[in-house]
Order: sequence, then C-alpha cells, then structure tokens
Amino acid sequence: MSSSSPIPRHIAIIMDGNGRWAKQKNLPRLAGHNAGAKAVERVISAAQKYGVEFLTFYAFSTENWARPQEEVQGLMKLLEQTLDKYAKTAEKNNFRLLVSGRKEPLSPLIQEKILRVTQATAHKTGLTVNLALNYGSRAELLDAFAQLAAQGISAPTEADVQRCLYQPALPDPDLLIRTSGEKRLSNFLLWQCAYTEFYFTDVLWPDFSEQDFKAALDEYSRRTRRFGGI
Ligand code: IPE
Ligand code: IPE
Ligand code: MG
Repeated sequence: MSSSSPIPRHIAIIMDGNGRWAKQKNLPRLAGHNAGAKAVERVISAAQKYGVEFLTFYAFSTENWARPQEEVQGLMKLLEQTLDKYAKTAEKNNFRLLVSGRKEPLSPLIQEKILRVTQATAHKTGLTVNLALNYGSRAELLDAFAQLAAQGISAPTEADVQRCLYQPALPDPDLLIRTSGEKRLSNFLLWQCAYTEFYFTDVLWPDFSEQDFKAALDEYSRRTRRFGGI
C-alpha cells in the first residue's frame, strides 16, 4: 500500500503557542487561550469545507495540571464556555463532539457539560470533533492495559488494544499538525501515530488560519505513504 488519498480522513492537532502569542502582545496567557479557541472554530469550518472526516484537538494534557493554578482555572473556565457554546449551537452545527481523556479529575460541572454536548451532537453525520482533554497517551495505554487485565487477556493483539482505547472507532490520524515550531509529541496519540504524517509550522496557534490549514493539506497531498511497503 503506497501513496495516500489527497485529503486526510483524520487530522490530529497539537495546538501550541498560545502563551507565546500572548507574550508577544504583552497580554496575559489567558488572552492567548481565548484567541486559541477562535482558531479551533476556524479550523472546524475549514475541515468541513475540505471534507475532512475526523479532527482531534489536543486541548489539555495530563501534564498541563503542572501549570500555575490561575492558568489551569482559566483554561477550565474557557472549556466550560466552549462546551456551553457548542451545546447552544448544536442545532445548526453539523459536527459530532467526542471527548477523550480521564474524566474523573475534571470538575463534576465540566463532566456534566461534556455529557450534555456529546449527547446533543451524537446523531450528527458531518465532521467528528474529538477533544483531547486531560489526555495523556501513556494514561490511555495504561487504562487500556487495565481493561485488558480485567478481561483476563494477558497476551493482547493489536486489535485488543485498539478496542480498549478512548475512541476505538476512530481511524488512526493520517496527518498530525503541531504549531509554534515545537517538534515533539508531548504524550499525544503515541499508539495511533505509528504511521501518521507529521507537519510542523512556526505559526502560533491563535494565528492559525484557513490558509495555514490548506498549506498543511497541500503538503500532505505531496507525501508518499508506504506503511513499511515499497
Ligand atoms: C497551548 O499553548 C495550549 C495548551 C497547552 C493548553 P501553550 O499554553 O502551551 O503556549 P506556549 O507553548 O506557552 O506558547
Ligand atoms: C502540548 O503542549 C499540550 C497541548 C497542546 C494541550 P505543551 O505546551 O503542554 O507541550 P510541551 O510542554 O511544550 O511539550
Ligand atoms: Mg506549549
């Protein structure tokens, strides 16, 4: 199996650079996160326009709790607002929302809002938006291994592991985009990115535009994927 279809079915995005964007403008870091939320909406629209089926956004990692309390609280507030907005606009938007990550450390209010939006959009047939929230790939794999152990499976196959991931029905990402010039995975989708194409850009996430998204699609269309073959 070589080459690939011109449009990636699943794009995973490490939205990075909100803090640096704010710093450049002498604004508080939270202003960068607010601007980042708008970039998410732009990319959702662009993905719908270009026919992408699945978008996974890295919104908050299991390691991001290490940030100052004020920033974590601000991010949680922004998340609440975003979930409220998506719930309110669920009627007219044709995207389904999924949330991936460990739910328990999130506040009961946020857990309730997640449930509300995911239920309100479950029947949508357009784009699937998967929000990685309190997500860590190592935590996801440990959770999968615990499930397998509970099922008495001591020598799992790849399909067994896949079945125990947070979103077993999602195909692996075809393309991973990371903004802000950093070139690392930061504990994101380690299992799922085995054959994913990586695209790095220096653009800071709040500045990421439809044009930048299109540039990533264009670059992807020029890649040859081999999956170990020729
Ligand atoms: C990404 O932007 C958003 C989150 C991790 C929540 P950062 O906040 O990491 O921005 P930089 O890397 O400090 O610029
Ligand atoms: C990765 O970005 C997490 C998210 C985008 C949510 P970080 O800014 O936390 O990653 P590192 O610390 O630079 O690797
Ligand atoms: Mg960062």
